[in-house]
Amino acid sequence: MTKYIGILTAGGDSPGLNAAIRGVGKAALGMDMRVIGFRDGFRGLMNDRTYRLDGETLSGILTVGGTILGTSRDKPHRMSIGGKVMDMTDVMMDTYQRHHLDALVCLGGGGTQKNAYRLLQKGMNIITLPKTIDNDVAMTDATFGFDTALGIATEAIDRLHSTAHSHHRIIVVEIMGHNTGWLALGAGIAGGADVILIPEIPYDIESVAAAIRRRSRSGHRFSIVAVSEGAMSQDVSTAIQTLRENKETAANDDEKNQVKSKLKAMEVEQARSTWELSRQLEILTGLESRVTILGYVQRGGTPSAVDRLLATRLGAACAELIQAGVYGVMVAARGEKAEPVPLEQVVGKRKSVPIDHPWVQTARHVGTCLGDEV
Ligand code: F6P
Repeated sequence: MTKYIGILTAGGDSPGLNAAIRGVGKAALGMDMRVIGFRDGFRGLMNDRTYRLDGETLSGILTVGGTILGTSRDKPHRMSIGGKVMDMTDVMMDTYQRHHLDALVCLGGGGTQKNAYRLLQKGMNIITLPKTIDNDVAMTDATFGFDTALGIATEAIDRLHSTAHSHHRIIVVEIMGHNTGWLALGAGIAGGADVILIPEIPYDIESVAAAIRRRSRSGHRFSIVAVSEGAMSQDVSTAIQTLRENKETAANDDEKNQVKSKLKAMEVEQARSTWELSRQLEILTGLESRVTILGYVQRGGTPSAVDRLLATRLGAACAELIQAGVYGVMVAARGEKAEPVPLEQVVGKRKSVPIDHPWVQTARHVGTCLGDEV
């Protein structure tokens, strides 16, 4: 019997998404399945907006950045429609049934795994692939997008070295990664940053300033500080932790809302912390400091060979699993293998950098300041 499958991409875009769509699509067509894409993530599934996926449209997309299907950060159970927030999972189920789908493939990061799991619970045959430049999806060795972003961020650090060196400045470079430090740590090590600050290791500003002053004394009059967008000082980290605990123990809704707005204010402050970090380092070291926010450059453009290979491998394995009728799983990278992992083991978890991870030890061994030394 010919199988019918749908594919959608959700969450932030990532290099390798098209390679994965192509991997799933070409392998599925080769197994005599019919494939359709849904536009703009779960919104396209809700509105039944499809995109033809056949030999012609799947051709020539391997090297293309972004996603030909479009994406969005919509959540099926909390769709914003004309100013109202509504659970649209039933409407999505209607689309699924209207197309007589045997499976829906959802390509995305941690949030998408959670959203796809909701549709699995509704009764759809769901299968997911792990994509994100943050590398923070649980139960997989790797996510596609990470390697490309790592290369871009590393090249940026290389380039920042010569300007920092020429002007005898500190350059604080902010690297994406959401609440995990994989990207900043990896690029920081590969690019030879002098300081690397990640969310998993809250920093003491004095420790960072002391490391930069030590460099100055030994004749290095510039420093590169690679800071993850989610990194925070020890003080801010403690304050956020306390507020989170207060939220749990709040006596009533009023109290809970007060704590929530304080938490929100704290998180807004954290989002600006790279500028504050740079300003404080100027005061504490007497050196000039500049900020570079790498931002979306890290997500754009053609995927690296490693990401193309990973996305194609996982995509083709996904088609094989559909052929075998294996659903409710994420196709995880395990060494050279692609293995199905039950979605309930993936959702609600985040793969953070363990503080004793070999990369952390490597950074310390080569004398990189991680902001926690006394
Ligand atoms: O998850 C990928 C990512 O690029 C994170 O690194 C970053 O925090 C976030 O997405 C940015 O999200 P948005 O595209 O919604 O601005």
